Amino acid sequence: MAAPTHMRLTIKSIYDKKKKNEKIIALTAYDFPLARILDEQGVDIVLVGDSLGMVLLGYKSTTPVTMRDMLHHAKAVSRAVQKALLVVDMPFGSYDTPEQALRNAKRFVKEAGADAVKLEGGRRIQEQIQLLIASGISVMGHLGMTPQTASQLGGYRVQGRDKEQAQEILKDALRLDELGVFSLVLECVPLTLAEEITDKIKCPTIGIGAGPKTDGQVLVTYDMLGFASSVHPRFVRTYVNLEAAIKRAVSGYREDVLKGRFPSKQESF
Ligand code: KIV
Repeated sequence: MAAPTHMRLTIKSIYDKKKKNEKIIALTAYDFPLARILDEQGVDIVLVGDSLGMVLLGYKSTTPVTMRDMLHHAKAVSRAVQKALLVVDMPFGSYDTPEQALRNAKRFVKEAGADAVKLEGGRRIQEQIQLLIASGISVMGHLGMTPQTASQLGGYRVQGRDKEQAQEILKDALRLDELGVFSLVLECVPLTLAEEITDKIKCPTIGIGAGPKTDGQVLVTYDMLGFASSVHPRFVRTYVNLEAAIKRAVSGYREDVLKGRFPSKQESF
């Protein structure tokens, strides 16, 4: 059953932050405890990103992620999120046609209590976005480096460096804005392009590897918490090295058990 959403930030309040020149804070979460912490710390948007496929499930890309995976994690996150807006990524292959997109997006709203869904792509998926919005489902767009189609984009690399490609991304952004997306993720684009798009569209832009001029920022939380991964993009700032802290804790526990120091009398019945 969907979690109550009445206390959460609204789509309008996120949209209006741009007018008020207030930065939007977004982070990813895939589980209850982390989502609770993000929510308590005043994050505006909690995103159940399909990056969970790589970060949590050990896949090499996001394409194997299924609706079942996303629903499972979205439900856990939704139980924790009281104040933030909850956005859930539609996984690869779940929005190939407008009808399929609507059927699947409704599951995130009805079964997981999502406030909005995120789809990767521009004019290519405009019919899907149009139908979702017309059916009352709020949509976050995602342009630039779109991981679900990374192989077509030449891998995980900056998009829009050349003029023609930058123009295409701008045209996509203008179209998504016209269709009524409530916000737009810009991933791995030059900061000048991100600034131009931010100036030209009405909805807020949320950058990841897109420089400081977007209306908000998002990061994969596990990256900023210092979990080692095979890639370390330069746009990630590591705020704490949790991997090192966890390693210390695990080896401390191991040593204590081996040497008979754990559990103590006080920790026993
Ligand atoms: O899947 C994800 O986590 C994302 C963010 C990086 C924006 O799409």
